[in-house]
Amino acid sequence: MATSADRFVHRSNPIDRMGRTVVYTGELLRHPVYTRFLHWMVGIFFFLALLSGFGIYLPWIFRFFTPLFGGGATTRFLHPWFGLAFVFFFALQAINWLQVMRWTPDDSRWMKHIKQYVTRSDSVESPETGFFNAGQKMQFWEIVGGCVAYVITGVIMWLPEIFGRILVAISYVVHDISALVMLFGIFFHVYLSTFGEPGTIQAMTRGTVSEGWAWTHHPSWYKAVTGRDPAEALEEAKRRNTPPPLPPRTL
Ligand code: HEM
Repeated sequence: MATSADRFVHRSNPIDRMGRTVVYTGELLRHPVYTRFLHWMVGIFFFLALLSGFGIYLPWIFRFFTPLFGGGATTRFLHPWFGLAFVFFFALQAINWLQVMRWTPDDSRWMKHIKQYVTRSDSVESPETGFFNAGQKMQFWEIVGGCVAYVITGVIMWLPEIFGRILVAISYVVHDISALVMLFGIFFHVYLSTFGEPGTIQAMTRGTVSEGWAWTHHPSWYKAVTGRDPAEALEEAKRRNTPPPLPPRTL
């Protein structure tokens, strides 16, 4: 049975062989080259589609975006292609992550601790947290749903003479709502990956994380890859960082 403790192991491919991941002592491999390549392609095309989309659909607020893409007509031409490239790379990433993104009973248990997670009242995540936590998985599946919505509504808006006015009008609304929901989620995603949880961005730049990061944020994954108990590792680190008691002073 798949548990959230499953390791993320993927078969090496030519893109992996084009780059290198150096894992130093005290670190763990988190994302191989192929995953990082797909993630940054997704990120680039997401923001290109977003900026060109804002330039087209809200020109009175974001008119300064259109010159970046060569003017209104070129922006209108490029936007669907940026969108398709985003969906294409995300589809490859979805296939790559399908196994680790499956919902498990551990994720349902994690959801019960969501208040502690949001308020940061726990110093470490709940012990059942595997390679990705339930929040990450929910966002992943929201993006999958968003991609399906973009493709369907995007094609309808691209070919209005085939689909007719009513379908086109509905598609505009669904497309824009989907974009706003995704943007809202990505805002938190970027915050958590950078300032919110220090040490996370390294997972998508160098492909590695520190062991401390692993036992703090994904204890069950830490246990699966190292065979060590995350709670013991934390206690050991605390002992190492605590200065020895001062000798008694005589007056
Ligand atoms: C500057 C922008 C971005 C930064 C700094 C960033 C950073 C990261 C990092 C560090 C991870 C690894 C987290 C982990 O291993 O636990 C990650 C994962 C992920 N990223 Fe991004 N990302 C960005 C943009 C995007 C965009 C635009 C999308 C999709 C629309 C996206 C989708 C994902 C997904 C689905 C994951 C896996 C689950 C998760 O960690 O939430 N990212 N990102």
